[in-house]
Amino acid sequence: MTVRRGEFLGLAGHTGSGKSTLVQHLNGLIRPQEGSICALGLDLSNKKDAAAVKAKVGVVFQYPERQLFAETVAQDVAFGPHNLGLPQDEVDRRVESSLSRVGLDLTTVGDKSPFELSGGQQRRVAFAGVLAMEPEVLALDEPMAGLDPAARRDFLELIDRLHRDGLTVVMVSHSMDDLANCCDRIVVMNEGAVFAEGTPAQVFAHADELKSIGLGVPAAQRMALALAEAGVPLRRGGLYTVESLADELADLLIGRSDGPSNVADIAKSKTVAREEGC
Ligand SMILES: Nc1ncnc2c1ncn2[C@@H]1O[C@H](COP(=O)(O)OP(=O)(O)O)[C@@H](O)[C@H]1O
Ligand SMILES: [Mg+2]
Repeated sequence: MTVRRGEFLGLAGHTGSGKSTLVQHLNGLIRPQEGSICALGLDLSNKKDAAAVKAKVGVVFQYPERQLFAETVAQDVAFGPHNLGLPQDEVDRRVESSLSRVGLDLTTVGDKSPFELSGGQQRRVAFAGVLAMEPEVLALDEPMAGLDPAARRDFLELIDRLHRDGLTVVMVSHSMDDLANCCDRIVVMNEGAVFAEGTPAQVFAHADELKSIGLGVPAAQRMALALAEAGVPLRRGGLYTVESLADELADLLIGRSDGPSNVADIAKSKTVAREEGC
């Protein structure tokens, strides 16, 4: 499989399909027994290259907050850059900027023990520790696992922003909705191998095959299917995000293909229609 520079790649697959194993290969934490892995033009089987890649491909493990260890937040985030042998003022700059990238303020939390913070904040600190290495690629293993819905949304937004800022992102997720909303492409794993790969539209067009390996499709797509079965004449395929389904329903309700393209417009049209006595 290939991860393209600058893309947001989703990794899906049943528990035990090999997602975490694959992610840990991306920066040489695990070495392949056969085959090879190249990252950023470097071959990971070469020891010197592997060391260079480690700094450029940041891996955020599942429940990364479990790896916090230092006495203060600032020390924890500084650990990686300090080990790179960077001068102190550069380490300080990176600590401040990476905390700010995850929405935390150095002056407020820097001297606190990471263990005084909430679970969501602890995860942000752990995340900042990886960003402080200034990676070009970010590989995240189920980054939203165990977070409540609001924290999930915040975190996904944060990852999306990092991607828009130029990072290549590889994200393992069990949520087909998150993958549908964020990814340029999705790789589906099954039994340690790539089962399918493509844009969300291409991957989700194969709902039956996904079902055969224990995976579902996004909620909007399930609803589109239920509506179609109930006789609502929706166009086939491509309706895997809430926005696309809402647009399609709006078009249907208004009854013409050049009609309004969002729910706010349709509400307005309905008011206008009512006022006009239609
Ligand atoms: N390509 C592979 N070939 C053989 N075994 C694999 C392969 N990928 C993963 N495994 C093994 O399968 C198990 C589950 O893998 P893991 O990466 O934890 O799955 P996931 O993160 O998808 O739940 C592990 O014991 C791992 O060593
Ligand atoms: Mg896993």
